[in-house]
Amino acid sequence: MNDLKLFSGRAHPELAQRMCDYLGLPLGRLAVSDFPDGEIACKIEEDVRGRDVFIIQPTCTPVNKSLMELLILIDCFRRASAERITAVIPYFGYARQDRKDEGRVPITAKLVANLITEAGASRVLTMDLHAAQIQGFFDIPVDHLYASPVVDEHFLNMGLPENDLVVVSPDEGSIKRALWHVRQLGGQLAIIDKRRTSAESTQQANVIGDSVEGKTAVIFDDMISTAGSICGAADMAHKHGARQIFLAATHGVLCGGAIERIKSAPIKRLVITDTVPLAPEKNISLIEVLSVAPLLGEAIKRIHRNESVSRLFV
Ligand code: R5P
Repeated sequence: MNDLKLFSGRAHPELAQRMCDYLGLPLGRLAVSDFPDGEIACKIEEDVRGRDVFIIQPTCTPVNKSLMELLILIDCFRRASAERITAVIPYFGYARQDRKDEGRVPITAKLVANLITEAGASRVLTMDLHAAQIQGFFDIPVDHLYASPVVDEHFLNMGLPENDLVVVSPDEGSIKRALWHVRQLGGQLAIIDKRRTSAESTQQANVIGDSVEGKTAVIFDDMISTAGSICGAADMAHKHGARQIFLAATHGVLCGGAIERIKSAPIKRLVITDTVPLAPEKNISLIEVLSVAPLLGEAIKRIHRNESVSRLFV
């Protein structure tokens, strides 16, 4: 893997290092800094001509800076004559505006896809996109990974009996994901009837499907932003008599009052992954972080060797 090189922007260097550890490669040398007015400067400190380059940068908080930095890094590697540039975006921000569901609104997911392509990315590697169809917003190859093997293994190791388990989808958009977890973990399926009242708030109206009464409820979502959706789902499961409740999500964005909501939710634990960094003040004992670095690292190895990535998920 001599011509394979991994570089990290400033969004999540710890994850990039974990991926390098998995691959047994050193992290590429790259200096990124800010000009006094906030513009971003960068310089690659090693030769990348003709190399297969992977740039690791989740577009997480500070979202606009992380995104702009990714674009500048792609441009930098293109001008340094890298043979192929893969943008590794473990958390793809701006994904929630993926269609015009009312008049006079943007489609930010498409805009971001255009920007990444125009900057010079050859391909994209990402994980648990908010909507799978965002892959189609790109005209370059996109490898879309799922954190579910990592998260499901965690719950399987807990030995939750199948006849005691109900997988809960926090809204109708997550039913497909919940069904996948039912296939892996067993148990039954319940769906929360969630209505979004604004960008920051949701209302949970009912539980549809199998009963959670007296059962262990595991609620899976793709991301937790303000935690209104998943904690609202937990409250609803609790009201309907769930005996114990676990929460799980791939992307722990955890902004606004998320931590306070999680602290007062009727839950045993929240499981997230390391697609975005968890600030020390948010690292409370209720939260357990699983690493997806080996999964991302394995995908990078397979992309580099032209091997199947989808086989990771069968
Ligand atoms: C919604 O469609 C998503 O799957 C998440 O449930 C939502 O984006 C989480 O946002 P929040 O934590 O602010 O409710």
